[in-house]
Amino acid sequence: MNIIVKHSSPDAVVSDLLAIGLFEGQSVKEAGYGTLDAALGGLIEQVITAGDFEGKTLKARLLYTHGDAIATRRILLVGLGKQAEFTLAVARQAAGVAAQTLADLKLRRLATVVHGLTAAGVAPASAAQTIVEGTLLGLYRFITHKREENTQRPTVDADELILLAPAAEMVSALESGAQVGQILATSANLVRDLVNESGNYVTPKVLAGQAQALTQDMGISLTVYGEEAMREMGMESFLSVSRGSAQEAQFMVLEYFPAAAGADTLVLIGKAITFDTGGISLKPNDGMWEMKCDMAGGAAVIGALRSIAQLKLPVRVVGLVCAAENMPGPDAIKPGDVVKAMNGKSVEYMSTDAEGRMVLADGLCYSARYQPAAVIDCATLTGSIVMALSSDMSGVFANDDALFTRIQKAADAAGEPVWRMPIWKPYRERINSDVADMKGSTGTRYAGAITAALFLQEFVPENTPWAHMDIAGTAWQEDHKPYQPRGASANPMRTLVELARAWAK
Ligand code: BES
Ligand code: MN
Ligand code: ZN
Repeated sequence: MNIIVKHSSPDAVVSDLLAIGLFEGQSVKEAGYGTLDAALGGLIEQVITAGDFEGKTLKARLLYTHGDAIATRRILLVGLGKQAEFTLAVARQAAGVAAQTLADLKLRRLATVVHGLTAAGVAPASAAQTIVEGTLLGLYRFITHKREENTQRPTVDADELILLAPAAEMVSALESGAQVGQILATSANLVRDLVNESGNYVTPKVLAGQAQALTQDMGISLTVYGEEAMREMGMESFLSVSRGSAQEAQFMVLEYFPAAAGADTLVLIGKAITFDTGGISLKPNDGMWEMKCDMAGGAAVIGALRSIAQLKLPVRVVGLVCAAENMPGPDAIKPGDVVKAMNGKSVEYMSTDAEGRMVLADGLCYSARYQPAAVIDCATLTGSIVMALSSDMSGVFANDDALFTRIQKAADAAGEPVWRMPIWKPYRERINSDVADMKGSTGTRYAGAITAALFLQEFVPENTPWAHMDIAGTAWQEDHKPYQPRGASANPMRTLVELARAWAK
């Protein structure tokens, strides 16, 4: 996709579709489209006066211009809602609406104003970044296995996005923001491809190959450990998960250590269960197919490292991806079995379906060697967090207020909402075991996301700010949204990158 920032008035821009935004109750003149509407003989004003467009949030109207009144023949009016309630999250969605209209009409070129440029406290670069994100994320479709779409793709794919700069002085800020947006959205769409891909195609080894392909020649060093190397490191907890599987577990270490970086090292850890059948504690078949998304945390970490390196952020970042397939099998781990993690703590399995925490436990132990300034793990960890927060918010458990605040700010910038959850100590006794240092899970469904976090905390390096993001609800979306087709969201990849961007400042 060719992204161009142009200082041009909307009526002069040449494209297939021109998207403009209006707030609720705003007149054409107030919105700054007086000249455009004059060239159109008052067409937009007429639509508004007729009551056919009120500027309500994300409500859109497609208009066709007459002859060559202006250079672009189709105009999409997109409602931005109440001006007082406007945020860049609305702008991102508005861009997604325009992108989907473009795709529906099988058009290739979109021109758009940068919504939000006039809003208080919005930096032009951030606004441009947001529009590019919403557009590219909104154009995404998972077509890898679709024969017709694959043969048509070159002819239906959009190939040009023009962002209109209202002033020449603004062009360079908009350009730099657009570049950031393109890097983030492109990586996020690659993450979506990995997460949407089925378990038979994305095995731990294939995921390691993808990590290699997606991060090479960027100043990232990747080391992949197989099961033998993991055994030598004492990762018995991690290894226990793949014992029923024919697929070898893989532990990926991605290190981005730029010369210009400060002293802080951020460690990002991702759960990457390429398919979660539940193992011997087999899941019911209904909806089991969705467990191909159980590597979403790991994919987000790979995408985050890629983006961070492409942005050349001056901050040290390590990605640890814990990949395994959870299957029943003759040698599979069983309820009641006891295993020992890298830090020497023993765990008694209650359910082999509580596998994510077992791979993360060793990942967390491994992170200690970096003496990190912060460790953040992200994982599709519990059904319990979906019950609590549904699909629009990730649950964040943090042992450090400042780290939580940083994550919240980053999540806000990314439009990937989070809610803080308690690591409530009194519940720790619920995972006490009669035979081991702890149980893997409680055996009840109550507060499952909290007891999972309490479990993970046992493996966090001492005195280290740590946060756990439970993305079981947000990584996979059932409903189609403005820049979110059904399926993988790439959540919380952009949050992780925004966090690193803020850290680098
Ligand atoms: N991968 C699942 C959690 C999940 C649920 C992800 C829904 C995405 C959507 C996880 O491994 C799991 O099975 N968790 C169990 C844990 C329980 C056995 C303690 C759960 O939450 O039911
Ligand atoms: Mn499971
Ligand atoms: Zn799982």
